Amino acid sequence: MQLHLKIWRQPSVDQLGQLRTYTLATAHPDMSFLEMLDVLNEQLIHAGEDPVEFDHDCREGICGSCGLMINGKAHGGKQETATCQLYLRHFQDGDTITVEPWRAQAFPVVKDLVVDRTALDRIMVAGGYISVKTGSAPEANALPVPKPQADQAFDYAACIGCGACVAACPNASASLFTAAKVAHLSLLPQGHPERKARVLAMTEQMATEGFGDCSNHGECQAVCPKGISIDAIARLRREYLMAQF
Ligand code: FES
Repeated sequence: MQLHLKIWRQPSVDQLGQLRTYTLATAHPDMSFLEMLDVLNEQLIHAGEDPVEFDHDCREGICGSCGLMINGKAHGGKQETATCQLYLRHFQDGDTITVEPWRAQAFPVVKDLVVDRTALDRIMVAGGYISVKTGSAPEANALPVPKPQADQAFDYAACIGCGACVAACPNASASLFTAAKVAHLSLLPQGHPERKARVLAMTEQMATEGFGDCSNHGECQAVCPKGISIDAIARLRREYLMAQF
């Protein structure tokens, strides 16, 4: 199949970028979106051009490294699918596909399609951890966790920190990311010692990094590759209020 790709090219954070158009005649419906970019890069290298920079690691929807705006939608808009799990069979021969990096004040473009997402790491550093005593691992049955609570915590823990929620949100809010981490840890007994300090510190760090606030658009939930519900944000709000009083 033949694809026409309009790809954001930007040499560095302090230089202007633009969409450049490339035609790829050797795409195959069974290729993943990232494999298609690999083939394009081989074509560019053979032509003596600079290959397109893009982030990836596991290519299995686990690590959260990949993240592209594809035709204006985070991860391409296919439900619960990360960019690396998106296949060309969802496109038509002759399609024109626009590929851009995440757009958010807190995610400066490093080069082409790569953005700096360390702002999410700093939110985690602010409170996304639990304290444990050193020594041997405690007996697992000594800390019983009810099954429904464990399941819910696991659903929130599925967040891979890709940043799609930020890219899709009209406020560029990291509320779903922060809420997933806060909700996951607040549901488990291991997370209780730092429960109040955690939600206050992570929420404050989110604002410090330049992310907007949530105004319930729900775009984050729609593009989350792990299907994390916006209910997490309601839980974040409750945790925040309880911590303040
Ligand atoms: Fe790891 Fe896509 S490359 S989630």
